[in-house]
Amino acid sequence: MKHFLNTSDWSRPDLQAMIDDARAMKASPLGDSLQGKTIALLFLNNSLRTRTSFDIGARQLGGYAVVLSPSGGMWPLEFEDGVVMDGEAEEHVKEAAKVLSRYCDMIGVRAFPKFVDWSEDRKDRILNAFATYADVPVVNMETITHPCQELAHVMALQERFERDGRGALDGKKFLLTWTYHPKPLNTAVANSALMIAAKFGMRPTLLCPTEDYVLDARYIEQASRDAEENGCALTVSHDIDAAYDGAEIVYAKSWGALPFFGDWAPEKDIRDRFRHFIVDEEKMAKTDNALVSHCLPMRRNVKITDAVFDSENCIAYEEAENRLHVQKAIMKALASQ
Ligand code: CP
Repeated sequence: MKHFLNTSDWSRPDLQAMIDDARAMKASPLGDSLQGKTIALLFLNNSLRTRTSFDIGARQLGGYAVVLSPSGGMWPLEFEDGVVMDGEAEEHVKEAAKVLSRYCDMIGVRAFPKFVDWSEDRKDRILNAFATYADVPVVNMETITHPCQELAHVMALQERFERDGRGALDGKKFLLTWTYHPKPLNTAVANSALMIAAKFGMRPTLLCPTEDYVLDARYIEQASRDAEENGCALTVSHDIDAAYDGAEIVYAKSWGALPFFGDWAPEKDIRDRFRHFIVDEEKMAKTDNALVSHCLPMRRNVKITDAVFDSENCIAYEEAENRLHVQKAIMKALASQ
């Protein structure tokens, strides 16, 4: 039984097959391939797109989604093994995963880092606990990576480059740029953007203010390996002009610097000096007519200016819509194992 935890567990042809299926369902949304199937959607963090698109996607294929969250009355869960459960948690993940497996055909999990200790958060303990104890496939709905977002992004890029006669993704310069945000955010989408760009043959550049903002070595190494296999190389840059020069895709995201996990005050002093990393028209003018996107939610005129976000080159709405289509393809693939 295969889970959908990270795109690194799946081959490029398998992922492309899901995107192709998603494109077919975008043209013809209703079907019965999940008839009678159920998915539990466990949200330990907020969501607009993920929650809505999984729920509606399951229904469009004849299935049914049950949304669970601690604020919605679920018992507080314990994720540590061998612990004496005399604290707040009423139920261990072992029981929760096994019981949900008796009711449901799949389980989706959203569990962001706790932002205290990256060496702990990088274990992705909650997602992995569900994958270990569940008897049904588990889907990562964003933990320390966001694989559903990756597929939606690639689908949007392929659609737009095809429409504009600009060819395949292979060899295109992909710029992932850090942007300012008043709070330190999850690195999940940044990790994912870099990995999927490399896997799909693009030339990834990571632009960030200082060494402190370079992503976890696990994702840098994965993206470097995949880029090399595709005859490309991953570039890490702190130079805005060089990074934007000739870019064909610009992906904007903010994240907290990993060395400051649990001690965020000094990180804020650094991030406040880099507000000028905003994606604006001046920077976009250095690109090769680049498409621009963001996973959303996004603070306008903090991460991307209105002029850029509302331009024809922005594909963020297509990407958001594609979440619905790719997640239907993912659920179909997992349900048909
Ligand atoms: N991009 C994304 O996952 O959106 P939500 O957090 O609203 O689900």
